[in-house]
Amino acid sequence: MSHPVFDVSGRVAVVTGSSKGIGRALARGLLEAGCTVVLNGRDEPRLERAREELAELTGATVHASAFDVTDPAAVSDGVAGIEERVGPVDILVNNTGAQHRTPFTEFADADWYRLLDTNLTSAFLAGREVARRMVPRGNGKIINVCSVQSELVRPGIAPYSATKGGLKQLTRGMCADLGPSGIQVNGLAPGYFETELTAALVADEEFSAWVRGRTPAARWGRVEDLVGALLFLASPASDFVNGQLLYVDGGMTSVL
Ligand SMILES: NC(=O)c1ccc[n+]([C@@H]2O[C@H](COP(=O)([O-])OP(=O)(O)OC[C@H]3O[C@@H](n4cnc5c(N)ncnc54)[C@H](OP(=O)(O)O)[C@@H]3O)[C@@H](O)[C@H]2O)c1
Repeated sequence: MSHPVFDVSGRVAVVTGSSKGIGRALARGLLEAGCTVVLNGRDEPRLERAREELAELTGATVHASAFDVTDPAAVSDGVAGIEERVGPVDILVNNTGAQHRTPFTEFADADWYRLLDTNLTSAFLAGREVARRMVPRGNGKIINVCSVQSELVRPGIAPYSATKGGLKQLTRGMCADLGPSGIQVNGLAPGYFETELTAALVADEEFSAWVRGRTPAARWGRVEDLVGALLFLASPASDFVNGQLLYVDGGMTSVL
């Protein structure tokens, strides 16, 4: 039997970047918990495939809205379209993210701006657009997908870490501005998870062994590991939790 404080059934949830990887798993978790879910991504055929697969897996009606979360006009039109077609957005999961590994002195301008836009500007744009609609309604949940790199760094990923550290502070700032309107803004911070973003690292036996050795749980994260923490942050159970990052990292950020 589940406790009513975790009940999210009937809520409308938008998950950005949910045609694959972590976003897709988070969308699936919200669907299985009874939410009405809107998927997002740029590649329309991939998005449609994810929509069909999740509808088949969960038996639910699944919605999709293709737009680029780094484009202010596209975000504004996308959110307006979702509210018109599906209903008022109760839960926004800012999940879109990209990684690029290069030594600092060789990092290209274009890659810096791509990471900044995909990982940080996206959450500002989608968060602002959805919050403009949540504020008059007096409630809402915004969950920013951060990272252990919101706190820690490794060689070759300084720009990624900067965007995820920035996202932590954006989460706190949004909490300060939106908390008085009954909106909770929190971060879900994964450790190392097996997805397409990390496929090369998973295949690299030396790196994979480092991850397992560095993680008290002694394994890579599986996308399903994130669902419980997401449902906590999306549900009334977290109504007095605001501006926090919840690390789902097998213990990695606790140990040296
Ligand atoms: N994997 C990990 O180990 C790990 C660890 C910590 C944190 N994270 C974070 O978790 C999040 C998801 O990571 P992931 O590994 O699942 O990534 P992924 O497999 O590369 O998936 C990224 C998703 O975002 C979409 N996307 C990318 N740019 C977009 C844009 N401008 N507008 C709209 N959609 C866009 C992609 O679809 P399209 O390309 O079709 O747009 C795709 O659906 C990211 O924020 C990442 O930083 C991941």
